[in-house]
Amino acid sequence: MSRPVRVLFVCLGNICRSPLAEGVFRDKVRAAGLDGIIDIDSAGTGAWHVGNPPDRRMMATAKRQGVDISALRARQFVDTDLADFDHILAMDKSNLHDILFLDAGDDFGHRVTLFRQWDPEPGDYEVPDPYYGGDAGFEHVYEIVDRTAEALLKGLAAHYELAGD
Ligand code: 4NP
Repeated sequence: MSRPVRVLFVCLGNICRSPLAEGVFRDKVRAAGLDGIIDIDSAGTGAWHVGNPPDRRMMATAKRQGVDISALRARQFVDTDLADFDHILAMDKSNLHDILFLDAGDDFGHRVTLFRQWDPEPGDYEVPDPYYGGDAGFEHVYEIVDRTAEALLKGLAAHYELAGD
């Protein structure tokens, strides 16, 4: 590819799951020497938290694992994202449905998948929404996101034959 591969993580609020995925994946991409070769963003299907930083519980969990997501700000998923990103990774089936609903011409379905389709232990294919639960839920989300992001990076690197340094 002569241009970056563009990856978008999508959840409901863009304050818990997808910003964590963005931060974790960004660190892995950088560590692999693929900065500027893979572009990364995240968005939420809902608008409630637009402009806000990630949930403080998600930021704390990430920080304990050495991942800083404090500079991220929530934005809403828009239909033009369907054309702008090569891989749109939904955190749960409801997000997947809401994203595909915006594909009015049925043109971009091949770009939209569940994030956990990359998970070596995919379970029910959903990253559970931790927002209304306790701290354990955020730790669980981190474990899922970390191993799935690792597999995603390996998969994209193989598919696009990306060489880091
Ligand atoms: P996220 O979590 O989709 O992982 O960012 C949520 C954040 C906020 C809400 C729901 C889920 N909410 O209803 O405000």
